[in-house]
Amino acid sequence: MEILHVVGARPNFMKAAPVVRALNACEQVRQTLVHTGQHYDFNMSDVFFQELGLPAPDINLEVGSGSHAQQTSQIISKFEAVVLDRKPDYVVVYGDVNSTVAAALVCAKLMVRVAHVEAGLRSFDRAMPEEVNRLLTDQLSDLLFTPSEDGNDNLKREGIDPAKVHLVGNVMIDTLIRMLPKAVERLPQHLPKDYALVTLHRPSNVDDMDWLKSLLKVLEDISRELPVLFPVHPRTRQRLVEWGICSGRHDSALQLLEPAPYLEFLGLQSRARVVITDSGGIQEETTFLGVPCLTVRENTERPITVSVGTNVLVGRDTQQIRQEVERVLAGRAKPGKVPPLWDGHAADRIAAVITGHSATLA
Ligand code: UD1
Repeated sequence: MEILHVVGARPNFMKAAPVVRALNACEQVRQTLVHTGQHYDFNMSDVFFQELGLPAPDINLEVGSGSHAQQTSQIISKFEAVVLDRKPDYVVVYGDVNSTVAAALVCAKLMVRVAHVEAGLRSFDRAMPEEVNRLLTDQLSDLLFTPSEDGNDNLKREGIDPAKVHLVGNVMIDTLIRMLPKAVERLPQHLPKDYALVTLHRPSNVDDMDWLKSLLKVLEDISRELPVLFPVHPRTRQRLVEWGICSGRHDSALQLLEPAPYLEFLGLQSRARVVITDSGGIQEETTFLGVPCLTVRENTERPITVSVGTNVLVGRDTQQIRQEVERVLAGRAKPGKVPPLWDGHAADRIAAVITGHSATLA
């Protein structure tokens, strides 16, 4: 059985690693790893392969950056040749990035079966490019692996045959559980005892100059009470440079850092007093770790992190960010639990379905 995995952007790598590993343990499975090249900087891509023990990609499409149409169309035309050449039994796609939907579309047209890992998540906000990617990828997929029950409900509402849908849990948490001991071991000595950890990269936060300025101002204010560590995504760094926004104050303990490798970031998350983010995966990781998370968005495609976990949506409201940080510092952070099936075995369940499913279709 020939399985082809497609990864492209940073959050794909930690999702693919456990699935590749689980399928490696299955007999008669041959795997090919395709990197679209959507992310290409060493610290956005290569370092994750090294740390996660992912094999080097067999094929790199090297599409790089561009507008959504340019990036997606380049992946489509380059990936089609790969599928025609390899003739896989399954193509596995991850998450909601442009590489995910582009690969799924190629397969649907070539009648090659697609398995979508992290299916069914919905923010119900089509202004988010990822929401469009999620909706389309799920419509095109033959197997849909959901991390939580809300995913199954969304897919049912959209008319997707429930026989294709499998609630397997969260593969990102598989990776977290495996890597956490190493991440903690590698924590730097000089780390402040208490700190806030920040990531921001969504267009809705970083492509709006006035809003980005107000966010930086809030972070500077918070840093007077609590040091703030902020590994900066390349998109965000570009905007900060372009608009001349930076932390110029001498009394500021806001540290703008390079994007952190997986282990370093996981270690930092595990010890943070509070995490402020607009990432999807970090909402889940903080929920598993029991660390308070403030999400700078009006909505989330991961509602279970709010209903069950430690996540609080603070929207575009600087006052609410300040208040929630105060609440955490006062020892009144929202308590949370770990959602069902976020147990380190999601990828084993996926491998069992893919290999079993293929046998019945053969
Ligand atoms: C992409 C995903 C987003 C995910 C994020 C994680 C889509 C639509 N968005 O957003 O869901 O949360 O990855 O990081 O797929 N750049 C570099 N070096 C790189 C990669 C990007 O400098 O290695 C810069 C480029 O200027 C590029 C910009 O960052 O134009 C944005 O990159 P892109 O892949 O288009 O989207 P992300 O914002 O990274």
